[in-house]
Amino acid sequence: MTEGRPVAGLEGLLDTEAIRKDFPILHRTVHEGRPLVYLDNAASSHKPRQVLDALTEYYERHHSNVHRGVHVLAEEATALYEGARDKVAAFVNAPSRDEVVFTKNASESLNLVANMLGLADEPYRVDSGTEIVITEMEHHSNIVPWQLLAQRTGAKLKWFGLTDDGRLDLSRIDEVITERTKVVSFVLVSNVLGTHNPVEAIVRRAQEVGALVLIDASQAAPHMPLDVQSLQADFVVFTGHKMCGPTGIGVLWGRQELLEDLPPFLGGGEMIETVTMSSSTYAPAPHKFEAGTPPIAQAVGLGAAVDYLSGIGMERIAAHERAITRYALERLSGVEGLRIVGPTTSEERGATISFTLGDIHPHDVGQVLDEQGIAVRVGHHCARPVCLRYGIPATTRASFYLYSTPAEVDALVDGLEYVRGFFG
Ligand code: ALA
Repeated sequence: MTEGRPVAGLEGLLDTEAIRKDFPILHRTVHEGRPLVYLDNAASSHKPRQVLDALTEYYERHHSNVHRGVHVLAEEATALYEGARDKVAAFVNAPSRDEVVFTKNASESLNLVANMLGLADEPYRVDSGTEIVITEMEHHSNIVPWQLLAQRTGAKLKWFGLTDDGRLDLSRIDEVITERTKVVSFVLVSNVLGTHNPVEAIVRRAQEVGALVLIDASQAAPHMPLDVQSLQADFVVFTGHKMCGPTGIGVLWGRQELLEDLPPFLGGGEMIETVTMSSSTYAPAPHKFEAGTPPIAQAVGLGAAVDYLSGIGMERIAAHERAITRYALERLSGVEGLRIVGPTTSEERGATISFTLGDIHPHDVGQVLDEQGIAVRVGHHCARPVCLRYGIPATTRASFYLYSTPAEVDALVDGLEYVRGFFG
């Protein structure tokens, strides 16, 4: 940390020295011996040894297909896969393990719900004359599936706009969510702006008109306690690889009675009860939505990630990230020409900070930072409408996690000063 600088609010930091020992990749160097400063956690987090070991052990000792064998390995693999479901259910405080559907990623979870609602019977069916509501700060994965559904069914797609300071504009909530609304789908924490959205007002209005609520918690589940019961949504989705788990595993949580009522989307093995040449009946949820051989090892890895995060404590991780975010906002505000795109204070925001630096193109910023060993993401971050809203082609984005340190914030600030000098 910068010598002699007052560092307010850094209480609550985790013991990152100990935590970082769990993450082998954080000890590698890049570009001829520079320490890696990894600030691209919103894109994907790194994996602790405990998760890597669980994956290796699974493949070395237990692998087989699940739910279909009578032999020892099939039973062990099934127990591990279903055990991971128990762990995820407990992690999000789901009332029932059968409400947890494993998918490939959050995008697949969102596409699954959009397609289920297009195929559903009343009262859930999205069709012509009905409306779908999203927001202007969604990731493409929570825009495109709804555009496709609207195009296919004739439903109308509507959205909440954004305020100048990067928050949802809910001032016309009663006009946006109406009696015709069937589903409201929105992000809990924005992957570009970092904004933590208010859930209660949206859920209350959606419930008034009988609309379903879907929450994209991809940027929340890794960083803070997530309680699907207190959110009062109907569906919550997130992905494993941003929360210390492997790639290739996502989660769809849905209320049990909904999952029972809604039709499957993908057909195949595992999801059936019985099949004849002319028709089939389906297994109960969650298996009805898990066609084919599932991502078994990936689910086991996610279970290990959930154990790891819970062992540290999600409240403590959230407090750590609040302190790092406060410190980063304060330090970044001292960089000449830097403009934060999104909330500039640490209230109701996550540990993702997007910014522009004078008129230096973010791709140039990212490249010169990378040469110094600092990994950030540049571009529109798969949420192009946000950039359009704020009249910018792209941003540079730094995103922090449980292993991020104040010294890494300092390295970013020093790196940005170097970038300014380089292009100045
Ligand atoms: N959704 C990921 C990101 O924001 C890929 O970078």
